[in-house]
Amino acid sequence: MSNSYFHRANLADMFSRRSLSEKGASGIFISSPRRTGKSTFIREDLLPKLESCGAEVIYVDLWADKSADPGEIIVAAIHKRIAATKSMVSGLIKKSGLDNASIDVAGILKVGVSKKVREGEITITDSLSLLSENKKTIIVLVIDEAQHATTTEQGANALFALKAARDELNSSGNYGFRLIATGSNRDKLATLVNNKDHAFYGAPLVELPYLGRDFLEWELSRFESDVKPSIERMLASFDLCGYRPEYLSQSLDALLFQIDLTGENVDSRLAVEVSNRLVASKVDFLKQVNSLPPLQYSVLKVMAAEGDNFAPFKSATIEKYKQVCGDLAEEVKIDSSSAQAALESLRDKSLIWKVARSAYTLEDAQYAKWLIE
Ligand SMILES: Nc1ncnc2c1ncn2[C@@H]1O[C@H](COP(=O)(O)OP(=O)(O)OP(=O)(O)O)[C@@H](O)[C@H]1O
Ligand SMILES: [Mg+2]
Repeated sequence: MSNSYFHRANLADMFSRRSLSEKGASGIFISSPRRTGKSTFIREDLLPKLESCGAEVIYVDLWADKSADPGEIIVAAIHKRIAATKSMVSGLIKKSGLDNASIDVAGILKVGVSKKVREGEITITDSLSLLSENKKTIIVLVIDEAQHATTTEQGANALFALKAARDELNSSGNYGFRLIATGSNRDKLATLVNNKDHAFYGAPLVELPYLGRDFLEWELSRFESDVKPSIERMLASFDLCGYRPEYLSQSLDALLFQIDLTGENVDSRLAVEVSNRLVASKVDFLKQVNSLPPLQYSVLKVMAAEGDNFAPFKSATIEKYKQVCGDLAEEVKIDSSSAQAALESLRDKSLIWKVARSAYTLEDAQYAKWLIE
């Protein structure tokens, strides 16, 4: 167990018990804002806990390689697990009808099989059934940043295939299948469970609790100085940081370089360090926004102001882009196609996120606050 992280054993126990129980069969969706510790919790606490309960755990992070198709990432993770066992590889080849595939070259198997998946000749359900039969235990697939799957057709198909696998493997006589999915934005994740057209309609969506007082006490115990900030100041600072450990740990680290730190000034110094960091990230963001081409700037501003009602191509919205551009005293051609190009560029810059066709949202909820202020 790594000492670089604060471990959340009770939370891991709760999620693992719920997931492995009968109620967990529909899947569990867990959200919490950016940089608040989802992936760390999953990797450091939840996965080991699930494994210690005897589950066959497969973990995929759909953000690990943003250029890869999310559908391919999911299929590859399942097949990599299968490729680790020779007898399963031959079983998969048999099911797929790939008579000339090499059984000991995982790369060939992966390519061959994912092509077949696209053609619908071997399904994710087949692969997971095979894994389940071989391991004789429940399979838990943990997908980090699962909302990313909806951005491509292959990704959306993979989610539907997982739903089919879930239904089959959870039927009697099988060992069971569970899905745990996380995401940085509750709204994005909610699209997967609130919409009848989506694969995991009706599955529970819960918030991962923020790191709390026990985490701050752990941070203080590691703070290598005789003078330490009070727990009250730590709580207030962490709240200001939006419960993002990095801002706090960097601020604490900066204090260690202050040779005139005393019991009297340590709390106020921490407040200054935290506030400097927050201002700096806001300034960085606004610098980036202010250097955008006028139409991209306008689209971002209008998007922040409109919130959930943002409809990028409506004539009223196009008028609003024109108004913001007009305020900038810039002559720009604005119509649906130039707006579309602006949205794509903002997406490439990771400032916005495509929820579905013609539906976009800001990448980080904090951006909207900074843009409106
Ligand atoms: N339990 C913890 N103990 C110590 N540090 C932590 C803990 N959880 C998160 N952190 C630190 O906070 C930062 C963000 O954590 P992490 O990447 O897990 O968050 P996330 O919510 O998955 O972020 P993203 O939105 O980018 O996916 C990392 O630097 C990580 O080391
Ligand atoms: Mg993460």
